[in-house]
Amino acid sequence: MALREILKDGDETLRKTSRAVEKIDARVIELLDDMADTMYEAHGIGIAAPQVGVLKRIFVVDIGDGSGLFEFIDPFFLRKEGSQICQEGCLSIPGVWGNVERPEVVEIQATDRYGQTFSIQGEGLMAVCLCHEYDHLEGILFKDKVRGELVQQ
Ligand code: NI
Repeated sequence: MALREILKDGDETLRKTSRAVEKIDARVIELLDDMADTMYEAHGIGIAAPQVGVLKRIFVVDIGDGSGLFEFIDPFFLRKEGSQICQEGCLSIPGVWGNVERPEVVEIQATDRYGQTFSIQGEGLMAVCLCHEYDHLEGILFKDKVRGELVQQ
């Protein structure tokens, strides 16, 4: 386990589309472990592989509500419902926040580190986080979707 460097806004890698994970090998497992370490060290609630310079369709989230760490490999949405506006930030855009409209509820399917398919439903902050991290796999940053002004703190 190790910390990885978090790429910052302006780095071209953050704007690229990530590739599907063809095989869950030791490098992917190490990446998952490192991403969790890096996210917790930075006090984030989610991080996507392109943020650590790896263009693979992987992200991890832990929104801090006690439900723990979730790992997503090759995720896709089964369902999106409703809408909410939530203030978001991003480890790649430190010190900046803005309001983004997201679904209120999402259902997402993915593969876990053992190669098993699973799906979970996320509501509220979890739905926001899943959508935010998924966007990273498409080269999209939250600031692209902000309504109103970006707030610097
Ligand atoms: Ni982000």
